[in-house]
Amino acid sequence: MKSSSDTLQSITQEINRCQRCSLYKTATHAVPGEGNPHAQIVFIGEAPGFYEDQQGLPFVGRSGKLLDLCLEEIGLQRSDVWIGNVLKHRPPQNRDPLPQEISACKPFLDRQLKLIQPKFVVTLGRFAMEKFISGVYISRVHGQPRFITWESNEFFLFPLYHPAAALRNPHIKKDFYQDFKRLRHYLDNPSEITPTTKPNTTQDNNTQNKDDQEKQMSLL
Ligand code: URA
Repeated sequence: MKSSSDTLQSITQEINRCQRCSLYKTATHAVPGEGNPHAQIVFIGEAPGFYEDQQGLPFVGRSGKLLDLCLEEIGLQRSDVWIGNVLKHRPPQNRDPLPQEISACKPFLDRQLKLIQPKFVVTLGRFAMEKFISGVYISRVHGQPRFITWESNEFFLFPLYHPAAALRNPHIKKDFYQDFKRLRHYLDNPSEITPTTKPNTTQDNNTQNKDDQEKQMSLL
């Protein structure tokens, strides 16, 4: 696993021939990630779904359409950002990633992040968030940026619900839209991010529900 001469292209090639876990056996294409190699903002999802697996591209199904819409709402296009996933191959039937799959795939995203050096890492859903922070519920921390040092990279982490959860639950969808507005605000005003930045919405009674929604498959 080299590092100094690493490039996004060479990582993509490695991912395309990866056999580190068994997912490659059932996948059609690997989905290494795509976008602006100099992006200030990186979005990280869970794993490719059906359409991503067919096309080898991240977020091209229903979740991707919602993501595109929200990006557009805050004045961003795909070409402004980089988009990747925790897992690079689709889990069969869109099941949750297994711990051994996450650890087998981890070095790829680590190396991609090291090369891109984004200022903001926006995680989509629980599995992406748990790459960087543990012991928190997404229903409690979504939309709250925090500055983190992670494997010698420094960036603002911005956890969001997964767009698939937003598509399933109108309450989550509302939060998802609001969180994108908050993202726009903090992109413009990063100096306002403090270790205790809290959302301006009050938590509702549906938090357990929302976490349960997140536990379901997110690969739409
Ligand atoms: N869901 C994800 O988490 N990633 C994708 O690329 C598509 C759907």
